[in-house]
Amino acid sequence: MEEKIEEIKGEIALELSEVKTSSELFRLKAKYILGKAGIIPGLMKELGKASKEDRPKLGMVINSLKEWAADYFAKKEAEINEAERNYRYKKEEIDITMPAKRVPQGTYHPVSIVKAELIDIFAGMGFRVLETREIEDDFHNFTALNTPKEHPARDKQDTFYINDDFMLRTHTSPGQIRSLTTIKPPFKVLIPGRVYRADDDATHSPMFHQIEGMVIDKGVTMADLKGTLNTLVRKLYGENTVTRFRPHHFPFTEPSCEMDVQCHKCGGKGCPTCKGEGWIEILGAGMIHPKVLEGCGIDTDVYSGWAFGMGLERLAMRRFKISDLRLIFENDVRFLQQF
Ligand code: PHE
Repeated sequence: MEEKIEEIKGEIALELSEVKTSSELFRLKAKYILGKAGIIPGLMKELGKASKEDRPKLGMVINSLKEWAADYFAKKEAEINEAERNYRYKKEEIDITMPAKRVPQGTYHPVSIVKAELIDIFAGMGFRVLETREIEDDFHNFTALNTPKEHPARDKQDTFYINDDFMLRTHTSPGQIRSLTTIKPPFKVLIPGRVYRADDDATHSPMFHQIEGMVIDKGVTMADLKGTLNTLVRKLYGENTVTRFRPHHFPFTEPSCEMDVQCHKCGGKGCPTCKGEGWIEILGAGMIHPKVLEGCGIDTDVYSGWAFGMGLERLAMRRFKISDLRLIFENDVRFLQQF
């Protein structure tokens, strides 16, 4: 028996010396020391067959083998656990000196930039921002804006009609009607948004952006309009920008005007940028027509107001020196990356 025990010890030592993982170790544990099928528990069964006088001594020997084996396995187990832990740590190690992965980031579209600038300027003057609908009805887009049935602006060639009653709005001015019929005066609103016209060439896009501004209050005059728009232009283009107001006609304002800024390229002498004019038109404006106010139930003996509408693409083109309108809509990354 003693010989056999020495043999078992030798086998355990040999087999354990080759073990590298905890699962291999477990397999050997099962082979030698676990359960009834293990080799060492098997020796205990043989003990029963031994003679009475041999039994105590044999029991001691087997027990000491048991203890030795338990010890031997525990040491190996500690070693393997340590090795496996180190391996895991090594694998999870983070090199904080490695360069970070680049996360590509978007930029704002030039039209969004000028829109945000305008909102900022007008918010500072107490205007609130409204977004009204892009699909409008005949009443809000034309009729309530004093645009009679036979007016050329209603021409099917200019307007994208959806059916007889609905269309894509041709300007942000229907927002005036939506404001006048929902907000109690006095108020100041700014209405940015997309507008649509059946135009498509180097200087016209079928969809573009406008910002409508409107003020309704007691005793509002054309002087307030000019003052506000001059303030706007100086904030946008610099303190020394020269402007002029030209008489014009819109059905929904009276009097109406267009505002020009002196050409930044030639300083008013005339060049290709301003088509020889020396001036560049930037917006349409005027005192809101009494018929429009009255149609919305506003008492024109008490209230008056002004409104303006300007195109954002043209503004962005001047601000960022963009030469072709189409660049704004193509969404070529090489273009957009520059802002
Ligand atoms: N809606 C007009 C246009 O699209 C601009 C405008 C707005 C004119 C408000 C006067 C008052 O051309």
